[in-house]
Amino acid sequence: MSNSSAPGKIDEVRKEVDRLYSKALSADELMRGITVLLNQHMLKYNWVGFYMLEAGANPPLLVLGHYQGAMTPHTHIGLHEGICGAAASSGKTVVVDDVKLDPRYLACSLETKSEIVVPVFVKGKVVGELDIDSHFLAAFAEEDRKLVEYCAELVGKRLEKA
Ligand code: SME
Repeated sequence: MSNSSAPGKIDEVRKEVDRLYSKALSADELMRGITVLLNQHMLKYNWVGFYMLEAGANPPLLVLGHYQGAMTPHTHIGLHEGICGAAASSGKTVVVDDVKLDPRYLACSLETKSEIVVPVFVKGKVVGELDIDSHFLAAFAEEDRKLVEYCAELVGKRLEKA
């Protein structure tokens, strides 16, 4: 696959996600594959990672899983914290065009300018989320949102099979 953001790039990446889904022997393998694919092939996706809700944790806690990009100090995030907590607690995708302007934002890297967080559902319940940071302002347009939501949906489907 080429590494540009040429038209059709998102379709190409989506097909690759489908291939990962059909090949993956576990949800874990699928999540790892998605982080690598999105980080390598979507130029503005500079940090890509999954946070999963820890089973049985009270209060609920998001724990960092597979990721690609710089190390983050935020390995555990409560549902009342950050953009990540907002997405998990509302069950809705959160897109932040300029993280500087969002008081909820928890900084991972000084370079991050925008962020998208998409919940992962299993049988209608949030079990985790896919978080992507970009070094560019407003990096996540509607088509990016659809791609990231598609990835999260496939992970939910794979987890349901487990
Ligand atoms: N920025 C996130 C924290 C996770 S890092 O982006 C990897 C937040 O505000 O919840």
